[in-house]
Amino acid sequence: MVTVNQQRVSRKRTYLMCSPEHFAVEYAINPWMDVTTPVDADLAVKQWDRLRETLVGLGHEVHLLTAEAGLPDMVYAANGAFVVDGTAYGARFKHEQRSAEAAAHRAFYEEQGWRFIAPSETNEGEGDFAYLPEAHGGLILAGHGFRTEPAAHAEAQEALGRPVVSLRLVDPRFYHLDVALASIDDENIVYYPGAFSAASQKVLAQLFPDAIVADDEDALAFGLNLVSDGLNVVLNNEATRLAGKLKAAGYHPVPVELAELKKGGGSVKCCIAELRH
Ligand code: ARG
Repeated sequence: MVTVNQQRVSRKRTYLMCSPEHFAVEYAINPWMDVTTPVDADLAVKQWDRLRETLVGLGHEVHLLTAEAGLPDMVYAANGAFVVDGTAYGARFKHEQRSAEAAAHRAFYEEQGWRFIAPSETNEGEGDFAYLPEAHGGLILAGHGFRTEPAAHAEAQEALGRPVVSLRLVDPRFYHLDVALASIDDENIVYYPGAFSAASQKVLAQLFPDAIVADDEDALAFGLNLVSDGLNVVLNNEATRLAGKLKAAGYHPVPVELAELKKGGGSVKCCIAELRH
């Protein structure tokens, strides 16, 4: 049972982000992207900076990846790898417009001395992988259906030595796992059931009976694309009902505005990769 007013505890995190100085919507590889919508890159940088300052203000460490011209989606740093227990399992992007981002992430992990495992299978890093260190002894949740191939789930399990539970995404608006589901602490999740196949919904209900469930409006406002340190939950400011549910469950919602980056089909979590030792 979830106890209301339960004492939530934050844990210091290490994150990786990449400035949107070269952000643009030059191609459309998800239903949110419209190449005719103007993007204000300066405003995108300002909003992204507020997000970075928010994380630093909460006591977290933020590493930066150097943005590269010609890679307008590089700001979505979550997609470049998936790091568990000090090992980075590299990304292999589905769309060739983003494929060069993988090398930039790889160079970061190798320079910083992380163990790096190059992938053979198509996968988009933390976009489609989530980690719950205290669920069932350390559990990886993985999405497939739009970007990451199921074969990459098996490859990640071999690379990282943690059980991987495969979940099928069925709604193209929720093309990555991290727009439909997030960890809110070391053992629990918040998710939008409608993004998943009926069987995957059953799996999630079995594994996470105490999960917080989001409605379609909050999910479509990118509310689930959040980052939590176990207490503070940084999320898109339009997901107001979700913020209320999190508060009622004892978490501390921290709303941020990321309107420009929504035009590329992402919000808070897409901009942040977690580096887990
Ligand atoms: N425009 C990017 C793409 O379609 C957005 C990526 C969002 N990232 C995420 N982790 N969901 O690939």
